[in-house]
Amino acid sequence: MHRIYYFSGTGNSLWVADKIRENLPDAEFIPITKDLQIELPESETLQNIESVGLVFPVYMSKPPRLVLDFIRKMPKAKYIYAVATCGMMPGKVLKTVNNQLRKTENELSAGYIIPLVTNFIFLPKTKSDKAIEKAFQKAELKTQSIAENVKNHFSIRQRNAESLFRSGFFDLQSDLPQNSGS
Ligand SMILES: Cc1cc2nc3c(=O)[nH]c(=O)nc-3n(C[C@H](O)[C@H](O)[C@H](O)COP(=O)(O)O)c2cc1C
Repeated sequence: MHRIYYFSGTGNSLWVADKIRENLPDAEFIPITKDLQIELPESETLQNIESVGLVFPVYMSKPPRLVLDFIRKMPKAKYIYAVATCGMMPGKVLKTVNNQLRKTENELSAGYIIPLVTNFIFLPKTKSDKAIEKAFQKAELKTQSIAENVKNHFSIRQRNAESLFRSGFFDLQSDLPQNSGS
């Protein structure tokens, strides 16, 4: 069984998480809420879950606080991937997630950035309606690639790219299309 944890302020990340779920039919779909942190006992094991997805927006080049608090308590899991939606400046959000996961004996196997529509008033207003439509079309294709990668347990580490991973190129490297990990 797959599991997708998501947090979404205005719906972009929920849309992305739902598209990934469409391609992972048996996936459990769980919103990250404040209560969830309390309900997830430290002893709960995620080892019998085939994949754990984390889908969330970028806030000031970082994951939202709620998401960071959640992943800091993540029990050991077999395969974890992250998908961050953003306007146009993701920063090193995936690196931040990975650094936090490492504190819990976990590690990202893959991470993806999906630029969509910005809901942040301090960023320039996003795009025309046509450009927005295009961004969502592109994003939908990407969610299909992500789901395929998840099914194949694609891992960036299989690419001997550990040094790139550590130095912050992780965002680029993990943003590879389907089947590029073999
Ligand atoms: C407080 C706040 C900070 C944000 N910071 C960034 C940022 O640093 N870089 C970026 O590209 N987008 C940023 N955004 C835009 C969101 O990441 C983007 O719109 C995202 O897709 C929203 O997802 P959601 O609808 O699931 O909440 C920010 C949005 C908010 C509300």
